[in-house]
Amino acid sequence: MPSRLEVIHSPDTVKDTVARLGREISTAYAGKPLLLLGVLKGAWVFLADLARALTIPVQVDFVRLSSYGDSDTRGQGTRVRDADFDCRGRHVLVVEDIVDTGHSMVALLELLREKGAESVALCALVDKAERREVEVAVDFYGFRLAKGFVVGYGMDYGEDYRSLPGLYELHLQKDD
Ligand code: IMP
Ligand code: MG
Repeated sequence: MPSRLEVIHSPDTVKDTVARLGREISTAYAGKPLLLLGVLKGAWVFLADLARALTIPVQVDFVRLSSYGDSDTRGQGTRVRDADFDCRGRHVLVVEDIVDTGHSMVALLELLREKGAESVALCALVDKAERREVEVAVDFYGFRLAKGFVVGYGMDYGEDYRSLPGLYELHLQKDD
């Protein structure tokens, strides 16, 4: 049997959810200059739609994260790449596709505080809260998910599926 995609959230549901996040974030940051900091590559579609769902002015920048270490330290060795933006004294909202174990976000949020951000918050399209290994608060989330590997709307498996318009669970078939 070939690998299979199961729809978790349709494009329309994703659209409605991003609109709802846009309203929440616009209210929360009314009157405050906001930097949206997208985490590449997974957040590229989400950030593009979210930015246009906001009714407040924002600036946009991106970071890339890479992980290192062996399987025992999975996720704990996170290196932040291309973090050459200035966030001193600024309100920063990190825009991420999925928060899973939480290790990569802990590393990024710590760095932003060290760099002198006025405030740091996190918006994730999908929060896999039950899989958390370290505490990280997701201030704004689109969907909660207990398990499963998600692709589409920017998210990939081996660089495939990023351009799909909804959210899908990937059921992998090993010999595929
Ligand atoms: P963690 O929270 O440090 O474990 O890492 C989360 C990152 O792993 C996310 O930003 C994604 O890039 C990736 N990831 C975790 N779960 C999934 C998934 O279900 N689909 C696609 N990427 C995922
Ligand atoms: Mg990511």
